[in-house]
Amino acid sequence: MVMLSKQVKDSHPDLTYNLTHSYITNEGIEVKEQRQQVIHMTTGSSALDKILGGGIETRSITELFGEFRTGKTQLAHTLCVTSQMSFANNGGQGKVIYLDTEGNFRPERIEMIAERFGLDPEQTLDNVIICRVFSHEEQMDVVKPIAALLADTDQGPFRILIIDSIIALFRVEFSGRGELSERQQKLGQHLSALVRIAEEFNIAVVVINQCMADPGAMSMFGPVIKPVGGHVLAHASTTRVMLKKGKAEQRIAKIFDSPLMPEEEATFAITNGGIADV
Ligand SMILES: Nc1ncnc2c1ncn2[C@@H]1O[C@H](COP(=O)(O)OP(=O)(O)OP(=O)(O)O)[C@@H](O)[C@H]1O
Ligand SMILES: [Mg+2]
Repeated sequence: MVMLSKQVKDSHPDLTYNLTHSYITNEGIEVKEQRQQVIHMTTGSSALDKILGGGIETRSITELFGEFRTGKTQLAHTLCVTSQMSFANNGGQGKVIYLDTEGNFRPERIEMIAERFGLDPEQTLDNVIICRVFSHEEQMDVVKPIAALLADTDQGPFRILIIDSIIALFRVEFSGRGELSERQQKLGQHLSALVRIAEEFNIAVVVINQCMADPGAMSMFGPVIKPVGGHVLAHASTTRVMLKKGKAEQRIAKIFDSPLMPEEEATFAITNGGIADV
């Protein structure tokens, strides 16, 4: 905890409010109380919710990774809507911040998904704050105003921060030999700040990651993929979900790493109304 706070302080000098807060979390009973505040939000697929232990949870980072067209961005768009639904409907009753690093946010998809769930499309879209960034510096710097927004009680409550994608800009801007350790250091600072705001504001942080073939692994079903980002990303993500293609519009999600849930798989579909059961 001391390390985390120090890193955040170094990278975001203004994020030092209430720092002592994070030093006092070692008592089991307090952690249990904090766990009771965790809110689970549906993904739109009950099969996927089940392997996630009830849906995407607040207070931690959930990572989605997989090859192109596996539904990462579609799931992110679905969460923009479901996180606004009532608690009774497995929603989060909160607003959304979408940090878009690739220009993949599509308002029309939000409206279509809102209609499926019987929400007002315009109002639903209005509750999604879009942050479009074009460099890794902008991506890191925007965390500060995001934290200010989350702290603003006139604006909230916010329930989810989505980052699509967490690493693309870092990979492009630190592509040279010898730049990897600097990239990982910067990415680590960025993720530390995200872990911190997830806990501080009881929001779900969902990060979309890229993947690569794992040269060390063999499978009779073709190449084995693994998430990029190394130990830094592995360490920051509490729950890691791998998405794969299935038949036609079907996709398969697999729990890759979770402190609580086994390595199960679920099949879901990408529909006009977002992620759904098959
Ligand atoms: N309205 C829709 N109805 C049904 N399927 C859709 C709809 N819109 C997009 N899709 C499907 O979603 C898939 C793309 O998913 P998505 O954009 O989430 O991929 P991704 O995992 O984010 O890929 P990338 O790594 O390229 O960003 C495509 O197969 C596309 O056909
Ligand atoms: Mg995408």
